[in-house]
Amino acid sequence: MGRVQGKVAIVTGAASGVGKEDALLLAREGANVVLTDVNEEAGEAVAREIGDQAMFVKHDIASEQGWIDVVKATEERFGGVDVLVNNAAILAQATIEDTTLELWQKIQRVNSDGYFLGCKYGLEAMKKRPKGSIINMSSMAGIGGVSSFCAYSASKAAVAGLTRTVAAHCRAQLYKVRCNSIHPDGIATPMVFNLHKEQGQNTSYVREKDPRQLQARFAQPRDIANLVLFLASDESSFINGAELRIDNGYLMWAD
Ligand SMILES: NC(=O)c1ccc[n+]([C@@H]2O[C@H](COP(=O)([O-])OP(=O)(O)OC[C@H]3O[C@@H](n4cnc5c(N)ncnc54)[C@H](O)[C@@H]3O)[C@@H](O)[C@H]2O)c1
Repeated sequence: MGRVQGKVAIVTGAASGVGKEDALLLAREGANVVLTDVNEEAGEAVAREIGDQAMFVKHDIASEQGWIDVVKATEERFGGVDVLVNNAAILAQATIEDTTLELWQKIQRVNSDGYFLGCKYGLEAMKKRPKGSIINMSSMAGIGGVSSFCAYSASKAAVAGLTRTVAAHCRAQLYKVRCNSIHPDGIATPMVFNLHKEQGQNTSYVREKDPRQLQARFAQPRDIANLVLFLASDESSFINGAELRIDNGYLMWAD
């Protein structure tokens, strides 16, 4: 208990999946948490579940004014920002041949512009505090490449590049702000389940009939939240600019 006691964390995309689990765990470990999402109803419900330590703000991460408002609301309610979890994202399935410019820009607007704005305004707020930690949710798709997720993979690679430049800048400026990226393989969340539904696959069938199949192929949100908690805490104070894969050895092979 208390691994992030007294810290103030903003978690984007906190209404669902990984962001929800991050917010619950950070609060359980002592942080005050500002949950943001475009899904107001679900986001409010998670904040209510946490109680006085939490506040929900409706927020589109692609909006610059939205970031200014979220940081201001956080400073007014909790006194500052120590941790930012850039987590919200959208997914679309299309290869380079099927991706229209419109789809490409829709994905980049949220998954890339939204993270740039988060880092920019998060850093500005954290510079006023003794130290800070920015945690950017990328993906294994941003390290490798997934043929059927062209725009998404590119946006997640952009997040990794953004993370490195923020980390390098903070080091060069002697800011006590760290910036790291997390790269999960598949996680059992609505993002994946909704995709399976679109494809006519029945994920819940797999889960009911053989839970091991789901567990072997997918991380649970808590697996990711545990790493977020570590990066948010002072236990990781010398980790900056790292790309942390969380994929059960996806890139390894046995011979
Ligand atoms: N699920 C996976 O298999 C997987 C794998 C690797 C990485 N990731 C990454 O993990 C993160 C969390 O994904 P998840 O699986 O929990 O997804 P999810 O769909 O369950 O949750 C995403 C949340 O982001 C919110 N959101 C979407 N667009 C937004 C916007 N413009 N502004 C604010 N909020 C917005 C949604 O309303 C939703 O609540 C994402 O960055 C995702 O790319 C997921």
